Amino acid sequence: MKPVNVGIVGLGTVGSGTFNVLYRNAEDIARRAGREILVTHVGARRDHPNADTSGVRVSRDIFAVVDDPEVDILVELIGGTSTARELVLKAIANGKHVVTANKALIAEHGNEIFAAAQKEGVNVAFEAAVAGGIPIIKAIREGLAANRIDWVAGIINGTGNYILTEMGDKGRAFDEVLKEAQALGYAEADPTFDVEGIDAAHKLTIIASIAFGIPLQFSKIYTEGISHITRADVAYAEELGYKIKHLGMTRQTATGVELRVHPTLIPERRLIANVNGVMNAVMVQSDAVGPTLYYGPGAGSEPTASAVVADVVDVARALTTDPNNRVPHLAFRADSLSDTPILPIADVVTGFYLRMEVKDQPGVLAKIAAALSDADINIEAIIQKDQLDANSPVPLIMIVRQVLESKMNDALDKIRALDVLAEDIVRIRLETLGP
Ligand code: HSE
Repeated sequence: MKPVNVGIVGLGTVGSGTFNVLYRNAEDIARRAGREILVTHVGARRDHPNADTSGVRVSRDIFAVVDDPEVDILVELIGGTSTARELVLKAIANGKHVVTANKALIAEHGNEIFAAAQKEGVNVAFEAAVAGGIPIIKAIREGLAANRIDWVAGIINGTGNYILTEMGDKGRAFDEVLKEAQALGYAEADPTFDVEGIDAAHKLTIIASIAFGIPLQFSKIYTEGISHITRADVAYAEELGYKIKHLGMTRQTATGVELRVHPTLIPERRLIANVNGVMNAVMVQSDAVGPTLYYGPGAGSEPTASAVVADVVDVARALTTDPNNRVPHLAFRADSLSDTPILPIADVVTGFYLRMEVKDQPGVLAKIAAALSDADINIEAIIQKDQLDANSPVPLIMIVRQVLESKMNDALDKIRALDVLAEDIVRIRLETLGP
């Protein structure tokens, strides 16, 4: 059978990895795809020291790859949203299939891109956009197709997980660990994407769509990063039997879909609580199979290339199939997507970790407990620490059981009004991730 010609645009960390994996494993890949897969054109503004492109057509104008009639599949690895969107829409209009690792592009422009692809009868594959090398899109979209999915929880930002792990294991400071993560090459070009949760929000937006058959709705996700997490909170949480992870959580409820990324306490006995360093993990709770957990490298050159190349193979296999009978982009057929609303964060129910730095006076604990009890909030655990010196406040740490977020906020406002706090309350959501 005629070989499939691939054009790679972007020869950075993932682009060079993709180029090298396609070459190194060409024979096995051809045996799997049923035909040879050749990189015939690379579009890159500069060469990459780890990718030897001699013998391959290289264009500095990346749009030359999109306009190359010989290219069957465009692999978009430039990142960003504006040029990437233009490039991908042009490729689709030119009748090319697209493989991308670009989570921001899919989360923010996926609805438009998939509609264009559907119209042209081409495929857009994006396994590498979520959790790097973990085949989570395929697992949810195909492997779990029998199930009603209840919720998906994921540690889907390696940089954030690395920072929290180092803070917990070695008591290291946030800024120092962030610099190290950047040097290791895992961090986004703009590190706020990692530490403020935007990267995880992009990925969770995609997961929610394929899990629940809803359009991509990045503008509605609740996003909170890890920059306010302190070493003390990590240590107190561990004392209470929990790990703090930056978790993406999407759940289907009777009234809508929860869609949120934020630091979260997870019981340390859960496997996912022990996913450390730059590793990612996604846990899916579904009705037929029950809980399943997917673990692996969420970033890096060849781990991400592994997902990109798998998509290339999938697309190559599907080239001769009827476009109407391919696996739908968002798992559910485009004409069957549901309009279930995304719930505002005030309507979400979680447990909470609370840390209050309180004045050392009789009756303070009683007043706080009364404010919580008046709101029907159930305290699960409480610890009070010694003062550092006679004038410093006393750290009071509590875990409270599941409560509606708006109710928790009201109770915290009442505690603030008691005039017993030396500084504002720290609160971190808690998920048990049990059945
Ligand atoms: N910056 C991302 C991370 C890379 O740290 O997980 C993969 O999307």
